[in-house]
Amino acid sequence: MKFSTFFSNVQESPWYRHFLNPVIDEIPNNTHILDIGTGTGKMLEILSKEKNVSCIGADTSADMLHEAKEKLINTDTKLYLIKAGKTLPFKQDSFDYITFCSVLFHLKNDAMVKLLADAMKLLKNNGVIIVHTPTGTGGLLKLTKCYFSIKNSSMYLWYHLTKKRAMRWTDDEYISKYAREQNLNYERKLVMNGFAQIEIIKKSKIE
Ligand SMILES: C[S@@+](CC[C@H](N)C(=O)[O-])C[C@H]1O[C@@H](n2cnc3c(N)ncnc32)[C@H](O)[C@@H]1O
Repeated sequence: MKFSTFFSNVQESPWYRHFLNPVIDEIPNNTHILDIGTGTGKMLEILSKEKNVSCIGADTSADMLHEAKEKLINTDTKLYLIKAGKTLPFKQDSFDYITFCSVLFHLKNDAMVKLLADAMKLLKNNGVIIVHTPTGTGGLLKLTKCYFSIKNSSMYLWYHLTKKRAMRWTDDEYISKYAREQNLNYERKLVMNGFAQIEIIKKSKIE
């Protein structure tokens, strides 16, 4: 089985909806969003079908986008295959929200910095960036207490595979430092019983 097919199946597990919900809850109806590193498209499927959000998804993996197409078949969502390190092919000042779910913490520092800077340019003046990342904390006992179900077995794999990088991401505090340097509003929320975090940057400067 291709990794993208496996990942697409994981996205259909109940725990994955818990993972995506905090981002979905932040995005109002009838907005225009770009999801960078959209993977197999589950979040865009939910946003377009449940909140009438106009969605664009971008990813560097053709296999992931192939799976995403299946999920997004009855929606207006557009998908773009992009190249890592290249400027994103979208107009400046055009999105209300730009989301990175489980993406930035996987990247090398240079790639992450460039992607975030590009995203800032693509946001409208009052736009918002949401960075969603596992925390790597919580422990297996708590995970079992909160999410135990045969259908959630892939969550153990996710926890194990992301733990180290997630903890490093949390310790580095890159997004909060970036926001401070740029004088932007920043907020961090622990979500999913502490297993994940969302970081929110508003493009409008602090008064
Ligand atoms: C762990 S998956 C997350 C997928 C989805 N956002 C989610 O939360 O379910 C990370 C995704 O980021 C994509 N990716 C990696 N580097 C990227 C880059 N430089 N630009 C855009 N997408 C990238 C990968 O191909 C993969 O689909």
